[in-house]
Amino acid sequence: MKKIIVAIDGYSACGKSTTAKILAAKLGYVYVDTGAMYRAVALYFIEHYINCTNQKAVTEALTQIHISFIYNHKTESSDTYLNGLNVENEIRKMYVSEKVSEVSALPAVRKNLVEQQQKLARKKGVVMDGRDIGTHVFPNAELKIFMVADMEVRAYRRQQELFARKQIVDLADIIANIESRDLMDTTREESPLRKAADAYEIDTTYITVEEQVDCIMNIAVGRMIELEYRVEDI
Ligand code: DC
Repeated sequence: MKKIIVAIDGYSACGKSTTAKILAAKLGYVYVDTGAMYRAVALYFIEHYINCTNQKAVTEALTQIHISFIYNHKTESSDTYLNGLNVENEIRKMYVSEKVSEVSALPAVRKNLVEQQQKLARKKGVVMDGRDIGTHVFPNAELKIFMVADMEVRAYRRQQELFARKQIVDLADIIANIESRDLMDTTREESPLRKAADAYEIDTTYITVEEQVDCIMNIAVGRMIELEYRVEDI
């Protein structure tokens, strides 16, 4: 069957990554977590005291950053590597979450990461999640999903994720972080978070992960059948 690109966008902590990961496994596609790429750059900037207002330092730093994803058989998902070091756990910590929106608003950072993301999907067969995948990275993606959920539910889910990583964070702190990231992600000049006109919106507030996956899987299969049909038709 013809392979497609599935673009999943939405606000922080709406269940994008969890859903995208399972969906990719079911389809036999590659999963790319673009948020992890921005987080890895933010971690590098923190560790190397890179000032986001210093364009020269930012450009120079980007030449020193190599991000890769390597499959972890124990967790059955890919871990993020920054210059050869596994940073999967570190990039999820709150101090990185607090820096990442500032870093991801920088045009030079976005240009660099978008180019890498486009290369990763050259052969299609990819599920990619982020903020600008359907609007900017792959405006012609065959399937676009936009995920939303109520704030309390998003914050609670993020708290549980952090707890699973042995971090105890107050719900109010998580809400404050998510709210400030939503604001920065939607108001930045460079490819802000927007729902693409042709995206399917899914509200995950009252549905389980399994239901989210089933719902997108059904739409994906429908799209693939439609595309195959058109190809045969020509
Ligand atoms: O999905 P996440 O919460 O791990 O993403 C972390 C941050 O990275 C998010 O606040 C905004 C930024 N981001 C982005 O600007 N563009 C993307 N495609 C993915 C993430």
